Amino acid sequence: MVKPVIVIHVGAGALTRSAMSAEKEQAYREALKAIVASSQQILSQSGSALDAVTEAVRLLEECPLFNAGHGSVFTHDETHELDASIMDGRTRDAGAISCVSHIRNPVLAARAVMEQSQHVMFTAAFARKQGLGMVEPDFFSTDARREQLHHAQAGEGRVVLDHDGRRDVAQGDPIDPERKYGTVGAVALDSAGNLAAATSTGGMTNKQAGRVGDSPIVGAGCYANKNTVAVSCTGTGEVFIRCVAAYDVSALMDYAGLTLEQAGERVVMEKLLPLDGSGGLIAVDKAGNIALPFNSEGMYRGYGYVGQAPWVGIYR
Ligand code: GLY
Repeated sequence: MVKPVIVIHVGAGALTRSAMSAEKEQAYREALKAIVASSQQILSQSGSALDAVTEAVRLLEECPLFNAGHGSVFTHDETHELDASIMDGRTRDAGAISCVSHIRNPVLAARAVMEQSQHVMFTAAFARKQGLGMVEPDFFSTDARREQLHHAQAGEGRVVLDHDGRRDVAQGDPIDPERKYGTVGAVALDSAGNLAAATSTGGMTNKQAGRVGDSPIVGAGCYANKNTVAVSCTGTGEVFIRCVAAYDVSALMDYAGLTLEQAGERVVMEKLLPLDGSGGLIAVDKAGNIALPFNSEGMYRGYGYVGQAPWVGIYR
C-alpha cells in the first residue's frame, strides 16, 4: 500500500531560536504549511509526484521569503542568476536550467527542458522559445536580499570564523551561512508509486557572476529513481557537487543495501561534513519512508502524507 507524501525544504544554516524573530518564524512556518497542503491536494487527487514537486517549487519560487525565484539572492555584481532542476523517477528523465535572470519560474523552465527538448541542461536561450513567463530581473529583488549582499560585501577579504569555528575568507560573510546560501526543493511519492524531485535557487549571496552551484546539477542537488529514492539538497553547493550528494544517497541504497535513513545520514554527516559541506537534504523512498537529515543548526522543512496534517520544522 503506497503512502503518497510531499516533502519540502527552503534552506539550511545557522538558524538559532534567539536570532529569529517570532514574526519571521511564524511567516516561515505558515508559508511552509500552506505549500505542503497545496501539494498534498495534488497527490490526494491522484496527481503525479512530478506535478506535486513542480507546483511545490513553483509556489516556493513565488514566495519572497525564500532564495529562489522572487526573493533570490544577489551576485557580487548586484544581478540575479537563478538555477533549477527536476527529475522524474519513473523514467529518470531530467531537465535543468542555469544562470537565468528573466524566467519567472525556473522550475517550469527545467520541466520544459525535460519534456520539450532532447537535452538535459540549458542556459537562458532555451526559455525564450517556450512561452514561459518572462520578467525583468528586478522582479526577483527584495530589500532584505540587497541588505544581505551589502553585509557580505562589507566583510569581504576579512578572515572570519564561521559558526563552527572554521576559518572562512571566501565570501567574507562572518555570521550566518543561511544568509549566503538557501535553496528550495521538493520530493514526492504518488499513489502510483512514482517518485520525483525538484530543486531551485538564486545561489549564493555575493557569488561571482557565472558561478553555478549544485541545484541545477542532476545527481548533485537533485535526483530521483523510482527503484530507490527522490532527493533534493540544500547547502554549500560546491561540496554537494564534489560529493555527488543526491545520487550518492540512491547509490548507497542500491549498491550497499542501506536504508534511506542510513544512506541520508552517511552522506550528510560522513561525506559532506568532513569537506566542510554544510546543509542537508530531503528524501523519500519508494516505500514512502522519508528522511530530512542536516548537519547545520537548522533546516527549514516540512512534509505531509495524504490524509494527514502538514508538519513543519526549523530547528533540531
Ligand atoms: N545549494 C545552492 C548553491 O550552492 O547554489
